[in-house]
Parts: sequence; structure tokens; C-alpha cells
Amino acid sequence: MVNLKRIASVLALGACFVASQGYAAGGATHFEPAELEPGNVSSLQRGARNFMNYCAGCHSAQYVRYNTIGKDLDLSEEQLIDNLMFNAEKTFETIQASMPAEDSKRWYGKTPPDLSLMARAKGADYVYNFLKGFYVSEDSPTGVNNVVLQGTSMPHVLWELQGYQTANFEDHENEDGSVTTTFKGFEPLSAGSMDAEDYDEFVRDTVNFLAYIAEPVRSDRRKLGVWVLMFLIFFFILATQLKKAIWKDVT
Ligand code: HEC
Repeated sequence: MVNLKRIASVLALGACFVASQGYAAGGATHFEPAELEPGNVSSLQRGARNFMNYCAGCHSAQYVRYNTIGKDLDLSEEQLIDNLMFNAEKTFETIQASMPAEDSKRWYGKTPPDLSLMARAKGADYVYNFLKGFYVSEDSPTGVNNVVLQGTSMPHVLWELQGYQTANFEDHENEDGSVTTTFKGFEPLSAGSMDAEDYDEFVRDTVNFLAYIAEPVRSDRRKLGVWVLMFLIFFFILATQLKKAIWKDVT
């Protein structure tokens, strides 16, 4: 009899562990949260369009096929071809950068990394803040630097939308004489075609798409999570009833 009780508590513990794993992957950072909506298909469609228009010139996403995107984002073959496939012929092709890697290496000093898994490798919040983090810097060959990735060789490709901004830093002298520089915020320098809110939305959609390609089964997994929780609740009720029935005559 006691064994049954023990088994039930071990199972409950296991359930807590499984549930906590889902949250552990989220992680906490000091970045402004991207607040993505993974199930929002319109946002993902806009993100796909943004990616193809503003990123795929330099970046590939070589683990992603156009037809998978079409299926997942409710796009017909015609919509795919007209709106996303600028440098591809067949829908089963993967996303290749328009610019040959040797050229971008020569121009930017670095080959732009493949973005298939970037949102998972660095986190969606990181990419969101990176795309919002370009500021004017005269020391840089591209004319901009980035608060998230200091000294980056990526130009501010979204400047027409966001406009240009400067960044304020504050130096703080530590007790041992070393100096710590902290970022204090941005100041707009010139306006782009979008206001701050629309630009945030643009970047959020783009990052949403990047998060989706990094893990296309993400929304399925969430749905599965709901089923798992429902099963655990059902099982808990069953176990309590069972315990009551078994202990009825003893107590
Ligand atoms: C003109 C070419 C070009 C375009 C267009 C471009 N990038 Fe980049 N990107 C680069 C280069 C070069 C790097 C390497 C930067 C480095 O490591 O300093 C880079 C790096 C990155 C990184 C990695 C940053 C890191 O921490 O390593 C991300 C994320 C990124 N780009 C996202 C984007 C997105 C999203 C777009 C579209 C909105 C885009 N890029 C458009 C050239 C480009």
C-alpha cells in the first residue's frame, strides 16, 4: 500500500520536472523582451517578407525550404513565388544568400552567418535588440556600431525604416582604477520612414520568422504541452481516487 503512495509522489515529482524544463529553455537576460507571437501567422508572413527583402541579400537560411514555409504559413505556391522567391527557381530549394560568400567576406571582412538557427543559438531577444541596436559611429567603416555586438561588421541595413540614432554611454571608474562603460540609451538623429512603434513591429515580425525557422515545430510543441498538462491533471485525479478507494477500509 505504501508503495502506491510512493509511486504517486514520484510521478508527481516527475511531472514537475517535465513542466519546469519548458521554462528553463526561456532563460532570463537584460535585453528588452521581443514579445513574439509564435502562433500569429500574419506576423510570420510579414516576417518572411521582411527577411527576403532585407536580409537574404547577405544571409542564407540553408536549412529552410520554401515549400515548408509555404505550408506552415498558409501561402499558396503562387504567393511563395511572387513574394518570397527572388533568387530561387524551385519551391523545394533552400534559402541562399544572393551575394556570393567570397564577395561579402571581401566587403564586410566577414561572411554573414547563416540565419537558420540564429534565433535559437543567440536567443530571439538578442536578435531583436541587435536589430534595434545600431547607432552612428564615426570610427566604424560602415558608419555604425551596435550596442549588442560592439564592432560588428554588419551595416545598418534597416536605416531607411528606422532612421539613424546615436547612443549615450557613461564611464564609471572602479575602485581598482579600471573603467566600466555602461550604455545609457539612444537618441534619434534622423527619422526613417517608420515611427518607433512600427519599427519595433517590423523587427518583431522579422525575429518571429527567424525563431520559427530555427524551430519549425515550436507551435506544435506548445499544443503538445497542453495535452501533456491535461493528461497529468487527469492522472492526478485518477491517482487520488485510486488512493481513496484502496485506503477506504484501512482508515
Ligand atoms: C549587407 C549585408 C547584410 C545584410 C543585408 C544583413 N546582414 Fe546581418 N550580418 C552581416 C554581416 C557581415 C554579419 C557579421 C557581423 C559580425 O559578426 O560582426 C551579420 C551578422 C548578423 C547577425 C549575427 C550577429 C551576431 O551576434 O553574431 C544577425 C542576427 C544578423 N546579421 C541578422 C540580420 C537580419 C535579421 C537581417 C535583415 C533584416 C540582416 N542581418 C541583413 C551582413 C548583413
